[in-house]
Amino acid sequence: MINSLRGFRDLLPPESDLFTRIEAAAREVFGLYGYQELRIPTIEKKELFVKSTGETTDIVEKEMYAFTDGGGREVALRPEGTPGAVRAYIEHNLGQTGRNGKYFYIGSMFRAERPQAGRFREFTQIGAEHIGNPSPAADAESISMLVRLLEKAGVGGCSVVINSLGCAECRKTYRQILLDHLRLNAAALCEPCKGRIERNPLRALDCKIDGPALAEKAPRLSLCPACAAHFSRTQELLKISGVEFQVNPGLVRGLDYYTSTVFEVRSGALGSQDAVCGGGRYDDLVKSMGGPAAPAIGWAVGVDRMAMLLKDQPAPDSAPKTFIVAASKEAGDKAFALVTSMRAAGISSDFSNFELSLKSQMRSADKSGASFALIIGEDELKAGACAIKSLKAHGEQQTVPLPDAPSTIKQLLKG
Ligand code: HAM
Repeated sequence: MINSLRGFRDLLPPESDLFTRIEAAAREVFGLYGYQELRIPTIEKKELFVKSTGETTDIVEKEMYAFTDGGGREVALRPEGTPGAVRAYIEHNLGQTGRNGKYFYIGSMFRAERPQAGRFREFTQIGAEHIGNPSPAADAESISMLVRLLEKAGVGGCSVVINSLGCAECRKTYRQILLDHLRLNAAALCEPCKGRIERNPLRALDCKIDGPALAEKAPRLSLCPACAAHFSRTQELLKISGVEFQVNPGLVRGLDYYTSTVFEVRSGALGSQDAVCGGGRYDDLVKSMGGPAAPAIGWAVGVDRMAMLLKDQPAPDSAPKTFIVAASKEAGDKAFALVTSMRAAGISSDFSNFELSLKSQMRSADKSGASFALIIGEDELKAGACAIKSLKAHGEQQTVPLPDAPSTIKQLLKG
């Protein structure tokens, strides 16, 4: 017996149904907001993530599934979707040829993190990227679309936290102030932070060990007038769209490309891995990856975590409506034709094995959760009919001509 790898899991029904439901809700919401789907590769050149997600981030330093492929190429399983989306945007010149710069993707991401509740090594993200719009309205639209998606999927009890990390200019000044503080207090920092403060002092703010203390003691970033105006307009527009949020100056996010507005959605019901969604602006990324100057904003929700929040809700009934049973091998032909015509009429239907005993087929019918068994026995075969038996209630059994079976079932399902 070969088991699955640690941190990788099989999604089985009914949990897999939850994923389908969440993804369907997302597609509906994306349609309302004019987003189109990008299907991008799962494997990319490793340097794509090193350059965009950031060399000094935990994701790239510690968590990436990177390897040399058979052709000697350095590749990586995508740990997140934004770098691939941006690469595709640039590679296919979507700024010129695309409709509105609004794209979504749904798929597996891979991070070799220590597995725990809500943290997997392969997990599903639904991501949205809006590339090419610098306006605060794009920020407010992106965040309110996210809230709409959570509502549509039935995920409640979440809080939205936002902050602004300012532009490159704001951060240049701040970097030096923070670096001075970190150098003075280096002795108190964890080993990884000591190693990277010179390369990327901002990362220390997001460190799981040092971050909380630094959020209290380290000097805060102050925004330039343009960034302050952008952030306050974003908040006004969020209020207009009815989104409740809190501003948390300690929110820095763990990826290097963020500028200006950043946000997370959290749920207390999730325990220590409480982030359902993370996102923000990345106004400089597209240009730094070799594309046009295209300010952008986006986010990604963790579908596994959304599913955890939904798992106690009653699942929609996915049982077939009818289960077809044949009492003899000869009746099997008619029964197979009946399954086909039921499904063609839009009635979900199933069967087991027409060569087994009637008793065994009826057991499968019960197990399937179907509402009705349609039985073709010897008498029905001669009459060109089928018997309809309710499996849920002790209703009367009735016999109908085979061509009338779909319309009769539709009537019975209505009543
Ligand atoms: P992120 O915050 O790294 O952002 O991930 C987004 C969400 O993915 C998290 O809030 C969480 O729900 C889920 N997630 C992350 N790691 C795991 C894991 N190991 N197991 C289960 N779920 C996980 C990004 O990935 C950015 N690309 C978001 C973005 C898009 N920013 C701009 N555009």
